[in-house]
Amino acid sequence: MKTDITQVMVDEHKLILRMITLVEKNTELMEQGGFRDWQFYLDAVEFIRNYADRFHHAKEEDLLFSALVANGMPAKQSPIEAMLMEHDQGRSFVRNMEEAAQKALSGEIGQIPGIAENAKGYAALLRGHIDKEDKILYPLAERVLPEEGRDLLVAAYAEVGERMSGLEERYRERVERYERQLAA
Ligand SMILES: [Fe+2]
Ligand SMILES: [Fe+2]
Repeated sequence: MKTDITQVMVDEHKLILRMITLVEKNTELMEQGGFRDWQFYLDAVEFIRNYADRFHHAKEEDLLFSALVANGMPAKQSPIEAMLMEHDQGRSFVRNMEEAAQKALSGEIGQIPGIAENAKGYAALLRGHIDKEDKILYPLAERVLPEEGRDLLVAAYAEVGERMSGLEERYRERVERYERQLAA
């Protein structure tokens, strides 16, 4: 049995998907007129930037995907390039969502369509993205990466976690808080 190098990443996807579900549900309520908590969108943006991007996507880009390229997967015109492009597309939805939510928070009217468009765009992009990683790219990594180097990869993941200590708990609490708010 080889050392597992993707389960931790699949688990992180689960927390990201819980935030995406919140974004989708709150956006639906917002469009129906029953949700006006602009701070939620700023908190979602911060979660996405720190947890999804600086933590999870950084581990993919700097560690897992690099290991795949080092083991012969092409960096260009390949699934890796497609995943990196989607990370970038996600970042641009998030910037636009933040801008509209900040305007709404400071009292500018007419921001709902902008928030909704980017929130829904991000949610759809990331759902498809995570699905491809969970079903195609991660299983491929488990098949092709040799045992040698796997322990180093796992240690490098842990190092990222240590550099950002308390991050997992902080963002899990945030997701749970908004889930409770939605259920109330
Ligand atoms: Fe990714
Ligand atoms: Fe991912």
